[in-house]
Amino acid sequence: MNFYSKNFKLGMLGGGQLGKMFIQEAVNYNVQVCVLDPDSNAPCSLIAHEFQLGDFKDYQTVVDFGRDKNVLTIEIEHVNTDALKQLEIEGVKVFPQPHILELIKDKGLQKEFYRENNIPTAPFVLANSRAELHEHLQNFPFMQKARTGGYDGKGVYALKSESDIEMAFDAPSVLEEFVDFDKELSVIVARNESGEVATYPLVELEFNPIANLVEYLKCPAEVSTEIEEKAQALAIKVAEKLEIVGLLAVEFFLTKSGDLLVNEVAPRTHNSGHQTIEGNVTSQFEQHLRAVLNLPLGDTSIIQPSVMLNILGEPNHSGEAIYENLEKVIAMSKVHVHLYGKHLTKPYRKMGHVTITDADINKAYDKAKEVNVLLKVLSS
Ligand SMILES: Nc1ncnc2c1ncn2[C@@H]1O[C@H](COP(=O)(O)OP(=O)(O)OP(=O)(O)O)[C@@H](O)[C@H]1O
Ligand SMILES: [Mg+2]
Repeated sequence: MNFYSKNFKLGMLGGGQLGKMFIQEAVNYNVQVCVLDPDSNAPCSLIAHEFQLGDFKDYQTVVDFGRDKNVLTIEIEHVNTDALKQLEIEGVKVFPQPHILELIKDKGLQKEFYRENNIPTAPFVLANSRAELHEHLQNFPFMQKARTGGYDGKGVYALKSESDIEMAFDAPSVLEEFVDFDKELSVIVARNESGEVATYPLVELEFNPIANLVEYLKCPAEVSTEIEEKAQALAIKVAEKLEIVGLLAVEFFLTKSGDLLVNEVAPRTHNSGHQTIEGNVTSQFEQHLRAVLNLPLGDTSIIQPSVMLNILGEPNHSGEAIYENLEKVIAMSKVHVHLYGKHLTKPYRKMGHVTITDADINKAYDKAKEVNVLLKVLSS
């Protein structure tokens, strides 16, 4: 069936901001996107072709939702993969494939996959509980990462000394060597069902030191062509080894000695690709659509350098969101504001993002800093 037919239905598990920006692109192709999300106020709720309230972690809910869809995709990986496997058996095309989601959403399996496939990554061991951390006392500092359930830095904990152990997660986790990195980088790669692949230019990420999540992103990254090509080749290697259909965001550390280590991957559209909406010929959201529909992949080249700024909820503010100085920011040229439509703000919640394009990336960066000082998400 043609994807633009009125009987064609693309289902998406998750109705957050990634889904919202995906629907914005799907509309151009006349693809009807049906969304499943447990929150009636989710960013997709007002713009999905059909919005179904329900838990994407529940087996029966996902099976029932998926049965009448032609293609099923996700915008969050923490979904019921047993249900997706059942739907695959019943003939629904599920992209990315559920067995890949299972591998990726367990950081332990993900790290073992890198080790088995000779993909450079920080050395690690696996632990089952907090008590087991005492066996690794000689290895400080290290990062403890909950094997499942983490996102936006929330499942990651730095252990600097023995006294930090009592605050550590008491759950199966990955203990990873602390990487003294120079930069954090990311490459998004797309792969369609025919096996065509396309990578985006390398981007550089700057983290908010308190919230441990991305604050600024620069595209292109300020690194040598050699590093960029190496990162893109590694991203393709991971995508091809997995045989993923869809997008894969590959996060890297560039060490001070110039080595690239894969930190982790995400099997979907990603925060490190938001600038592609205005900055690149094909946005990551359109590319995801192309990949899961097995269409030719789009041109990923840069139109203009860009800097993206995440709009995070102010610390100490929880409640109905108010955007201070929003009009001043909208008045600035080449500043593209995206509000996700989340009614309630919380400290460091991702409420939106702003992309600034400019032929001179330094000018874009200065403007992003200006926006960051001006634009505040407060509660009423
Ligand atoms: N081994 C390490 N050494 C040093 N810093 C690290 C290490 N692992 C993670 N970090 C820091 O913590 C951040 C979050 O880690 P990671 O990407 O593994 O977690 P996450 O919760 O899945 O994050 P996100 O959802 O934001 O991608 C990294 O971007 C990096 O800044
Ligand atoms: Mg990460």
